Amino acid sequence: MHLCDHILRHVNFVPEQTDELTIYVKKHLITMVRSGTHKKLFIPGPTEVREEVLDAQAQWMIGHRSKEFSELYGGIIEKVKKFLDTDMHTCVYTSSGTGLMEAAIRNGVDKRVLCCVNGAFSERWAEIAEACGKEVDRLEFEWGKAVKPEAIERKLEEKEYEAVTVVQNETSTGVRAKLEELSPVVKKHGALLLVDTVSSLGGDNIDVNLADMVLTSSQKCFALPPGLAICTMSDAMLEKSKNAKDKGYYFDLEHMIEYTETKKQTPETPAISLMFALDAELDYMLKEGKEGRYRRHVEMAEHVRNWAKKNFALFAEPGYESVTVTCVRNTKNINVGELNKALRDMTISDGYGKIKGSTFRIAHMGDLTLKDVQELTARIDEVIS
Ligand SMILES: Cc1ncc(COP(=O)(O)O)c(C=O)c1O
Repeated sequence: MHLCDHILRHVNFVPEQTDELTIYVKKHLITMVRSGTHKKLFIPGPTEVREEVLDAQAQWMIGHRSKEFSELYGGIIEKVKKFLDTDMHTCVYTSSGTGLMEAAIRNGVDKRVLCCVNGAFSERWAEIAEACGKEVDRLEFEWGKAVKPEAIERKLEEKEYEAVTVVQNETSTGVRAKLEELSPVVKKHGALLLVDTVSSLGGDNIDVNLADMVLTSSQKCFALPPGLAICTMSDAMLEKSKNAKDKGYYFDLEHMIEYTETKKQTPETPAISLMFALDAELDYMLKEGKEGRYRRHVEMAEHVRNWAKKNFALFAEPGYESVTVTCVRNTKNINVGELNKALRDMTISDGYGKIKGSTFRIAHMGDLTLKDVQELTARIDEVIS
């Protein structure tokens, strides 16, 4: 039994009752129980989840082959497409984003892929491709620098590749790629453009129509708990998936899209509670709109960057700074673990990968606000002064 139900019984309420007073008291009790353990997350995922979304998960189960589920999932797909302003094939997997990184390779590449590497997550994609037995060429950029179209063009002129992988928002370095510059080059050479937007879709202003596959995870700019991965796909990607030799079973994208588009269901049992949460969050995201969310993210990013420039230094190449996560050069050698202890109910993130010791990261993604990040930087100032 839920802790709140115990408390309610103790004070002579019947938790199952649905009168307004009981619901009111129960809601406030839940908030009180939650707030006791709440640390506001300024880490690049999982990020803050709004209470309404937490509540949305706590609904009674429905069957995944029921009409109700088809309505729920069909509605989610329509809302995602509307938010992203796309007609691309769209689906939601019960997996983390890494699952879809592997799916992109298995369905989009038979033999050879070019992986643009400028940080830990883009390197992970190259490793995934190798683990899937593909021939992988890395196009390396110094960490902190952005993926550039001229370099891709040179590689595509040298050799034929079926696909090019790009991480649009390198979470390890806080560097953003300009898809509008990369997409024409990849298209000109007839390769598929596979894009990881795990830490940016829903925050940054991304045109998914520029790529053959765009994938993300639920726990970042969609501000949901972890466990879902969302992607859009072009007809060309789907065609490639139809004939892919080694696509496996769970991540057979052709099969997933067929189920999604004909039955409005997923081939396997999905995380239904998370689907309830996604549905609720999408209503909120649609109200704010893609542009509105982008503007809010830019405001938060500018505040954090200005603060970082005043007190430390930025890691990202100028002009390519992420709008969802700022990677800060730790020029004062602060101990991030100690800082987090002193921050008490707020948490920032250490550096990642080979720049772990020399950087730290502040995420400003999802449903966080300018006020939240202003409070955070003021608190850090207090602690480090
Ligand atoms: C850019 C990027 N790609 C991929 C991943 C992996 O995503 P997941 O943890 O959802 O598998 C992450 C996680 O932080 C990420 O930031």
